[in-house]
Parts: sequence; structure tokens; C-alpha cells
Amino acid sequence: MKTLLLTLCFCAISFYTIAQQNSIRPGEVWPDADGNHIQAHGGGIIKLGNLYYWYGEERRPGLDTNFRYVSCYSSKDLMNWKFNGDAMVLSKPDSTLANNRWVLERPKVFYNAKTKQYVMYMHIDGAIKGVSKSPSAYDFAGVGVAVSDKATGPFKLVKTFRPLGKESRDIGQFIDDDGSAYLIFECRPVKGFYIAQLSDDFLSVEKEVAFINLPLEGGAVVHYKGLYYAVGSKLTGWSPNPNKVATATSLAGPWTEFVNMAPPETNTYNSQSTMFIKVVGSKDTTVIYMGDRWKPSALHDSRYIWMPVEIGAGKLWLPEPKPWSINVKTGKWKKIE
Ligand code: GAL
Repeated sequence: MKTLLLTLCFCAISFYTIAQQNSIRPGEVWPDADGNHIQAHGGGIIKLGNLYYWYGEERRPGLDTNFRYVSCYSSKDLMNWKFNGDAMVLSKPDSTLANNRWVLERPKVFYNAKTKQYVMYMHIDGAIKGVSKSPSAYDFAGVGVAVSDKATGPFKLVKTFRPLGKESRDIGQFIDDDGSAYLIFECRPVKGFYIAQLSDDFLSVEKEVAFINLPLEGGAVVHYKGLYYAVGSKLTGWSPNPNKVATATSLAGPWTEFVNMAPPETNTYNSQSTMFIKVVGSKDTTVIYMGDRWKPSALHDSRYIWMPVEIGAGKLWLPEPKPWSINVKTGKWKKIE
């Protein structure tokens, strides 16, 4: 009996040790606390109190194909993530969508301190009945907004619409240091992307703040030491390309020319931008590039390329992704040899 108990204890301890991560390993399988590869693709992160919440496209094999799923993970240290279940399970959100090939992509959640609501934006797309030539067209080109009174959901869809009345595909999220919230969206007809401020309750996209006249998607913005840095990728679908960066002293611009943020031949180390995480610690501020390394033949197995960037004085550069760790209290990170 004693031996059995000891064995059980040992197993529990070693399981715990295996499950605990002390690093972020870009491009590798990233197990959550249950040991499953994290399903939060094209994701977004917010911090509330001492918890980070990571929302993203849940593409686990075996999901009911009548629905689209958004996952919610939480973490205290950005390295160990607990799956909190499906934050949203969405059925076809609009009756004009022609078939069951519609998509929900790049979900992003904002927390509104005034209304105490969590507000999710997502890219909704698909072919339109009687209009689209291809059944897999991305012609709907809109966003969905869903709300929940808990971070982990369940989120309920409120509406779908086109932000500022415009075609919108990839979306990004930006929350400035003063708490103001913005939706970034790519707009094909005008070959560019918008940074647009959300209304006070975050339920609508209220005001165009900037229009950047370059066909870029996967838009992400970070505010660091008085400068805004905007990053985007070219429109090459799931295939990676050299993502680019520009800066401005005000979100409204003027924005500098877009330049490479990594050696162009690496195609952003085979990844596409989705967001930046700014970790402000007691000793340092670290800005982390969050990118997706998509695997279109098995989207659930797409990997995450997270890496602290070299940033400052108008330069933002992504070093070669290698295993690293971070202390979110001090804000300091280090490479792991
Ligand atoms: C990419 C986009 C992804 C997804 C994909 C579909 O350009 O960034 O979010 O929409 O195209 O081909």
C-alpha cells in the first residue's frame, strides 16, 4: 500500500514537473497545462490583474463543423497556459452567408472597465448567397462583435457589420496606454489598413484614426517610449512573407515608410504577425512579437512564433526566434542556451 501511495505521489509530482514550462520555444508544439498543443491561432492577449488571457482560433481536430470556436487560455507568466474551455461556439452568424464554409478568424477581446463587459471582435467571412462566384470566397468581409460578463465566456454574438461601412478582412487589436481601444482592419478595395477607435462601450467602431495606404494585413501596433510601431504582412494568404514596420509619433500619423523587420529571405522566420504583447515590469519593458506559423494542411498544428523584439528610437527588429524565458514581474527576458 505504502509503495503504491509513493508511486502515485511520484507520478503526480513528475506529471506536474512535465506540465510546468520554464520557456517559450518558438515553432515547437506548445502544450497547455493538460498537455495539448495550444489552440489559439491568430490570437490576441489582454492582461487583467495578474492574469493574461489568450483568445484565438480553436482548430482542434474533431470539432463540430457546424460551428466555429474561440478558445480562452489564461496564464500568470506567459509560459504556462491553462485552457479555460471554449469562450465562444458560434453558429452561422448571418443568413446571407452562402454555405458552411464561412470563417471566424483572428478573434480579439477587449475589457471595458465602464460596462464591465468583455467585448470580442472577430473576422467573419465567407461566400454570399447569389453573389459570390466561388463557394470559398471571402466576400462577406465583415466583423462580428460578441459580449460576455466573464473573461472566459460564454460570449454571445451581438451583431455583424462592416467597420466604418468598409470591407474588412484581417483584424488586429490595439489598446493604448490610456486605455483607448482600436480595431485595426485590412481593406482591400483601397489597398490599405485602418486604425479605428472603438466607441465608449467598445460595441461599435466609431472613428477612423489612421488609414495606411499599403496593402498589409495581420496588422499589429505597439506604443513604446513615445513612438507607435505598426507592423503588417503582405497579402499572401497562409504563406509567410517579409512583414514590415513603420513608426509615427501619433497614431494618426504621419507614418514613416514601411521597412523590413527581419531578414527578408526568412519570410519573418516563416511567420505572420498577429499582435504585440508589451510587458512592463519593475526593471524593464519587453515587447514580444506574436506571430503564427500557419500549416494550412493541418491548421490545428500551426505553431506560434513569439519572440522579444529589439525596439527603440524608431527601430523594431525581430531576432532569430530561439527558446527564451521571461519574468513578467521584472519585465526581463533571457535566451535559453
Ligand atoms: C491570410 C490571413 C489569415 C487567413 C488566411 C486565409 O492572409 O492572414 O488570417 O485569412 O489568409 O487564406
